[in-house]
Amino acid sequence: MAKYILSFDQGTTSSRAIVFNKQGNIVSLAQKEFTQIYPEPGWVEHDSSEIWSTQVGVAAEAVSKAGLRAEDIAAIGITNQRETTVVWDRRTGSAICNAIVWQDRRTASYCDSLKAQGLEDMIQQKTGLVIDAYFSATKIKWMLENVPGAREKADEGQLAFGTIDSWLIWNLTRGKVHATDVTNASRTLLYNIHTLDWDNDLLSLFDIPHSMLPQVKSSSEIVGETSGSLFATSIPIAGIAGDQHAALFGQMCTKPGMVKNTYGTGCFMLMNIGEKPILSTNKLVTTIAWKIGDQIQYALEGSIFIAGAVVQWLRDGLGIISHSAQVEELAQKATSSEGVYMVPAFAGLGAPHWNQHARGTIVGMTRGTTSAHLARAALESIAFQTREVLKAMEADSGISIKELRVDGGATENNLLMQFQADILNASVVQPAITEVTAIGAAYLAGLATGFWENVEEIQEQWEIKKSFKANHEFPTEVLVEGWERAVRAAKVWAED
Ligand code: G3P
Repeated sequence: MAKYILSFDQGTTSSRAIVFNKQGNIVSLAQKEFTQIYPEPGWVEHDSSEIWSTQVGVAAEAVSKAGLRAEDIAAIGITNQRETTVVWDRRTGSAICNAIVWQDRRTASYCDSLKAQGLEDMIQQKTGLVIDAYFSATKIKWMLENVPGAREKADEGQLAFGTIDSWLIWNLTRGKVHATDVTNASRTLLYNIHTLDWDNDLLSLFDIPHSMLPQVKSSSEIVGETSGSLFATSIPIAGIAGDQHAALFGQMCTKPGMVKNTYGTGCFMLMNIGEKPILSTNKLVTTIAWKIGDQIQYALEGSIFIAGAVVQWLRDGLGIISHSAQVEELAQKATSSEGVYMVPAFAGLGAPHWNQHARGTIVGMTRGTTSAHLARAALESIAFQTREVLKAMEADSGISIKELRVDGGATENNLLMQFQADILNASVVQPAITEVTAIGAAYLAGLATGFWENVEEIQEQWEIKKSFKANHEFPTEVLVEGWERAVRAAKVWAED
């Protein structure tokens, strides 16, 4: 029997492939960054052929680095940057334009017009989402309206839409399978999370033909096999999940009330809420956590657009550090931020504010403010934003959160993690597995193919590496009050 699972982790800035063994250990890893395209302010695009070529390239590299052959791979799991939209011609297999990335704001004013029509409640009831340029539907509509000939081709049934998972599956199967999974579908603004089907009212609202849409599968089942020409033997594609959903699974947040936060470019916090979709009254979104067999689980999610990216800005925009890892050392030179707050609303504010127009703001500076205070304020902004989302989650779920499972690059920053625990008054727990997103997809693929028997078997692999306990004497109230004033300043600046 084949002894390994190959996980594709197609992220916003790089394509990665990781081979895992049955114990959940990393056997090999390959990664390649690809081009970020910024054609206009607020627009972000990817070349979907580069996404495919880098992803298939790192997959082959990871398998060969491990000294394996295709027949050693029991299954492929796919996890991906979500919402990013690809539309391609079914006959040629070529995309009709660059992919529009989740961060792209070009449809923000159209979203404002939908809100002005009072459609927010109807859309939230059906999809669990808020109206925002972040999700796929308005991106598809933009392509159909702005790419010459696209509307006609779509009406004739020639065009296919997919999030990145669908695009990879289409290419892996050489056009045989046009599919996605429930988690990715739940990020499109077109999928009804109650009926588990594409929603015809929403398709007509956005004027998107049903024929463009992929078939929706569960997150753990064989959806197809790789085409013979790609690997020496066909490999089943058996797990699919959007990256944040895969991370929730990889963190083994399998019971209601369990929460994870991934610290990447942005921060994505998800709470497992069990088998019923709770709709948020605190501006979070409701999303499908995963579907395994007939069992569906839902999650509440808060997406923060800028987290780790604020550290990149200290490096590239301000030039006060030369490597991201130096931020901790610089921040440690100040014992506190001394009243300086940085609100990194570079791309507006996501959850729980959903303010598309807020902009980055620094307040509270004095003649004594140094780069150390700015570094500290930048790190603290990540923790304050996380706290806002966590409080909204507690209010929606009625659960008081005592433990936050964390992953992502910034979790290496001890100063940030300790501040996070203190400001939340909760334990912050880092698992021994560093690649929780990729392993989440591997687990889903392995469960579908009998590589792992059941979730209980997998649960035994999850171990704690480090835990940060809260200091109960922490002056949370005073600090949070200052943060809230700073956020108000970031919003008011945009309004005037
Ligand atoms: O919703 C966007 C998210 O899925 C992107 O994640 O890790 O590629 O930045 P990441």
